[in-house]
Amino acid sequence: MSNRTLAILKPDCVRKGLIGEVITKITDDGFKVTALKMVKLTKDSAGGFYEIHKERPFFGELIEYMTSGPCVPIVLERENAVENFRKLIGATDPQKADEGTIRKLYAESIQENIIHGSDSDENAAKEIGHFFSRKELLEINGF
Ligand code: RTP
Ligand code: MG
Repeated sequence: MSNRTLAILKPDCVRKGLIGEVITKITDDGFKVTALKMVKLTKDSAGGFYEIHKERPFFGELIEYMTSGPCVPIVLERENAVENFRKLIGATDPQKADEGTIRKLYAESIQENIIHGSDSDENAAKEIGHFFSRKELLEINGF
């Protein structure tokens, strides 16, 4: 089990001025922030990141949304990071998310749902590599 996962504070989170509040929820839950940056995704970059969904009917809208403004990818560390983080963010659809989860608290809709969390250790490693070079990770934290 890996101790790292990738979060993205999505464009609606940034637009609503919630960067600080959401990061506080994450660190209060026991995660350590080990790398962080602000980026504006291109269509190609967002399409590559969500390639697994490219045949889904919502793919076009998802790419529009994810490229609609800057977002904040964050590498997080904690034991059993992927599973613990998915619990903290809640279900994809905020109406179905448990009380106290980040999506329940802040998200508008199944699409504009504030935050991303990797869904497996394998995808976490790939997704961290999508945003952070080996050199950056080494310079920041030695891994
Ligand atoms: P994420 O990958 O962003 O952490 O979200 P997730 O695992 O909870 O959900 P996933 O099925 O991977 O969907 C990726 C993102 O696509 C948007 N979405 N829209 N309109 C829709 O029915 C729909 N379904 C999904 C959401 O932004 C979702 O987080
Ligand atoms: Mg997903």
